[in-house]
Amino acid sequence: TGGLTTIDPGYKNTGSCVSEITFLNGEQGILRYRGYSIEDLAEKADFLEVAYLLIFGELPNKEQLDKFHSDIKKRSVVDEEVKKIVDAFPKSAHPMGVLSSLTSALTAFNPESVDINSEEEMYNAIVGILGKFPVLVAWAMRKKQGLPLDYGDNSLGYVENILKMMFKQPNEEYKLNPIVVDALDKLLILHADHEQNCSTSTVRIVGSSHAGLFASISAGISALWGPLHGGANQAVLEMLEAIKEDGGDTKKYMAKAKDKSDPFRLMGFGHRVYKNFDPRAKIIKVAADEVLDDLGVQDPILDIAKGLEKEALADDYFVKRKLYPNVDFYSGIIYRAMGIPTEMFTVMFALGRLPGWIAQWKEMRERKEPIGRPRQVYIGKNSRPFISVEKR
Ligand code: SDX
Repeated sequence: TGGLTTIDPGYKNTGSCVSEITFLNGEQGILRYRGYSIEDLAEKADFLEVAYLLIFGELPNKEQLDKFHSDIKKRSVVDEEVKKIVDAFPKSAHPMGVLSSLTSALTAFNPESVDINSEEEMYNAIVGILGKFPVLVAWAMRKKQGLPLDYGDNSLGYVENILKMMFKQPNEEYKLNPIVVDALDKLLILHADHEQNCSTSTVRIVGSSHAGLFASISAGISALWGPLHGGANQAVLEMLEAIKEDGGDTKKYMAKAKDKSDPFRLMGFGHRVYKNFDPRAKIIKVAADEVLDDLGVQDPILDIAKGLEKEALADDYFVKRKLYPNVDFYSGIIYRAMGIPTEMFTVMFALGRLPGWIAQWKEMRERKEPIGRPRQVYIGKNSRPFISVEKR
C-alpha cells in the first residue's frame, strides 16, 4: 500500500496547491478574485477586465485593457478546416461534447499552445484561446440550430461579439440589447473562477504533465459537463420544468431529494465549500428578477424556483446538511430569458470559467508544480500463480 493507511475520497480534506488567485470562505459565503470582492467586480467591472485580473494578477489600466482586447481580436480566427469537425457531428451531439472536441482539435492548428516555454509563448496561447473559444461556443450552438458558422464582428466589445456570433440570423441585422449584454457580462464574471473545483483541478492535473493549454482546457470542459458540477445548471431547468409539468408540486421533489433510495438530488442546491449562501447565487437571484422584468419576460419557472428555495431553506434535512442554492440554481433562468437553449447552459458556464482555468494553469506552470500523481490503499488480491486457460 506504499505506506498509506488513509484515503480522502473526493479530496474533501486535501489541499492540492497554494494559489494567489481566488479566495473562498465557505462558512461566511465570501468569494474574492485576487482580493477583489465578487460583489464589487460583478457590479463595477466587465468580463474582459476580470479575465485580465485573474490571469495577470492586477486590474488593467485603459492602455493594457485595449492592448489585451486587440491582441485577442488578432487571434480570434479559427482555421476553416475546424468546420469539417463541426460538420462531422450529428445535430443530436451535446454542445459540451462538441466544445471539448473542438478545443482539443485547436491544438492541431495552433501548435504554439503546446510547447510553452516563454512568457511570450504563454501570452500568445492565452490570447489565442480567449479569441477562439467564443467562436467555438457560437459554432456549437449554431450547429444545433442548423445555422451558418459565422465569425464575429471585431468592432464590437468582447461580450457583444459573443452574442452577435450566437444569435445573428442569416440576412437579418442583429440588434444588441444592452440589458442582455450587461446580464451576460455579469454572469460570465460570476463564473470566472472558483479555486480548486473539479474542472479546475482537472485543468491543473492535465497541465502538470506538460500537456498543452488547449488540451488541458478541453479536459476541464469534460469535467465541467457532469451534472454534479457545471452540468447542474442544465439539470436545474430540467428539474424545474418537470415540477411545472407536475402541476408545481415541489413537495414531491423535496421528498425525492431526501429519499436515500432515490438517486435524485435537488439540482442547484448544496456545495462542497459553501455551507452558507453561495454569494454568486445571491447576486444571480436579484439579477434574474431584474433581467426578466427589464425584458418583460414572465416565466413561471422563476416562481417555482423561488418556491422551491423557500421550502428547502425551511426543511430540516436541508438545513442540517447546510444545503443552500448554489451558482447553478438561478443562472439558467436568465440564460433562458436571453433565448439561450437549455443544452447550451453549461457551455455558457465554460465560457465564463475560461479565464479562471487559464489563470490556474498558468500559475501551476509558473510555480513548476510536479506532475499530479496521488497514491492509493491497495485492497485487491494478494500474489497468486498464473493458471492456463485450459485449467480455468
Ligand atoms: C458547481 O466546487 C465548486 O466550486 C463547484 C462550482 C464552481 O464554481 O466550480 O461551485 C460549481 O459545481 C456547483 C454545484 C452544482 N451541483 C449541483 O447543484 C448538484 C446538486 N448538488 C450536489 O450533488 C452536491 O451538493 C455537491 C456535488 C454540489 C456537493 O457534494 P458533496 O460536497 O460531495 O456533498 P455530499 O454529496 O457528500 O452530500 C452531503 C450530504 C449527503 O447526505 P448524507 O449522506 O450526509 O445523509 O448532503 C446530501 C447528500 O445526500 N446532499 C443533497 C444534495 N447535495 C448534498 N441532498 C439532496 N439534494 C442535494 N442537492
